[in-house]
Amino acid sequence: MNSCITFTLISLLLALNLNPSLASSRGLTDDTNASITQYSSYVKNACHVTRFQSLCIRTLWPFAIIAKNNSSIWARAGVAVTITDTKEALRRLLRTRNSAVGKRERIALSDCRELFVDSLDNLYKSLNVLRKLNADEFQRQISDLATWLSAALTDQDTCLDGFAETSVIASSSTVRMIRRKATKCMQLCSNALALANKLAYDGL
Ligand SMILES: *[C@@H]1O[C@H](CO)[C@@H](O)[C@H](O)[C@H]1NC(C)=O
Ligand SMILES: *[C@@H]1O[C@H](CO)[C@@H](O)[C@H](O)[C@H]1NC(C)=O
Ligand SMILES: *[C@@H]1O[C@H](CO)[C@@H](O)[C@H](O)[C@H]1NC(C)=O
Repeated sequence: MNSCITFTLISLLLALNLNPSLASSRGLTDDTNASITQYSSYVKNACHVTRFQSLCIRTLWPFAIIAKNNSSIWARAGVAVTITDTKEALRRLLRTRNSAVGKRERIALSDCRELFVDSLDNLYKSLNVLRKLNADEFQRQISDLATWLSAALTDQDTCLDGFAETSVIASSSTVRMIRRKATKCMQLCSNALALANKLAYDGL
């Protein structure tokens, strides 16, 4: 998803939502309210299958205007937002190379760097297949998608496991920040996998 388009969509929805004076006539106001309700029901309907629903709604509502009830667009949106956050987490991870942290945390951070590189690779493969979906190859494409998204999620889970034995309170601020970012990625990725499963169920 092109970020410029996303920005335009957000601006449009914000304009609809926050500027009732734009919709001065009674009829237009009714239409506007109806659309907001409609869009919010599309995103709620899509996010219903996810484990982290409020995060899903918060991150994916700008896509409602184009996705409507289309499961393939929702799955693509889910993967796209996961990629954005995973890239950001990896960027932060790469900057922690020379951080002064304990030995156990240093090992956990180093493992996370490798795991997040692999996770991002799996997420890009997922996005690529979602861009090329077609009825003839759908079964194989969906099976690849499930494999890659599960691998991406496992990578992120494994990264978080590396910190499991260090208490959050005793952690350095760097490690706390990485754990927070990795946790959000893992939740977004879990949501993306759920949206992909919904696509598998709904079909093209
Ligand atoms: C639509 O929203 C406006 C402003 O929020 C409100 O005044 C109006 O009563 C709403 N109309 C309907 C039909 O819900
Ligand atoms: C979208 O899906 C929901 C739930 O399945 C359904 O209630 C609604 O009518 C659908 N809307 C359109 C425009 O297909
Ligand atoms: C959903 O969107 C995809 C991609 O834009 C399109 O190819 C497909 O026909 C749409 N499916 C439905 C049911 O509208």
